[in-house]
Amino acid sequence: MSLLADIKFIIIGGGGHARVVADILNLLGAEILGYVDNHQTDLPHHYLGQEDRCQHLENTHLAMGIGGATSTEIRRKISEKYPKQLFLPLIHPRAIIGEGVFLDYGVQVMAGAIIEANSKVGYGTIVNSGAIINHDCQIGEFCHIAPGANICGMCSVGDNAIIGPSAILGVGCTIEPDNIIRAGQICLHDGGKTKIINR
Ligand SMILES: CC(C)(COP(=O)(O)OP(=O)(O)OC[C@H]1O[C@@H](n2cnc3c(N)ncnc32)[C@H](O)[C@@H]1OP(=O)(O)O)[C@@H](O)C(=O)NCCC(=O)NCCS
Repeated sequence: MSLLADIKFIIIGGGGHARVVADILNLLGAEILGYVDNHQTDLPHHYLGQEDRCQHLENTHLAMGIGGATSTEIRRKISEKYPKQLFLPLIHPRAIIGEGVFLDYGVQVMAGAIIEANSKVGYGTIVNSGAIINHDCQIGEFCHIAPGANICGMCSVGDNAIIGPSAILGVGCTIEPDNIIRAGQICLHDGGKTKIINR
């Protein structure tokens, strides 16, 4: 697949998430110029220096390679230094995206993730490997939907929220901005309120 053929990218960050992002860029046929980080890592791409190198580049897109196991604040802070349009949405070719789904700039959809009809995912959010977002969900900016999280239909997740690995949101849940739903937690919406049922 070569959806991003001839499009040049620099990856911001040189750790584990960057490696996954590089895989997607390779699968989509993009050209990876290298990565920026505070120091050189073992990422098998050119080390280009500190992140501020990206300020002076033309005809180059950026791919956010910093993940966020417990906070997505660094992703947001760095992303906000650059025009949003430089962060094209990156969708693994083996993710499934339903009809009418809207993915903003900077969204990353990893392998095996599923986003069903009419859902919206905001700027800079990660939908990690195998996560499921069912129909008519609203996911905010700079969220992290961690691997294997399962978000049922008509849920709303506020900006910067993290839905931990294998967490479950039952139909119609609302998660407030900045909240963390921990690994494996189950939330249900009942009597007009969203409750965590296994604290
Ligand atoms: C959100 C999270 C980081 C909070 O962890 P934490 O900082 O340890 O949380 P707390 O300090 O409140 O932990 C209090 C206690 O609950 C336990 N605990 C934390 N998360 C738990 C969970 N999801 N299920 C059961 N117990 C948990 C801790 O081990 C600790 O136990 P202890 O008092 O016996 O030592 C953690 O719950 C989590 O989700 N981790 C996974 C992060 C992740 O993998 N993200 C995706 C990366 S791709």
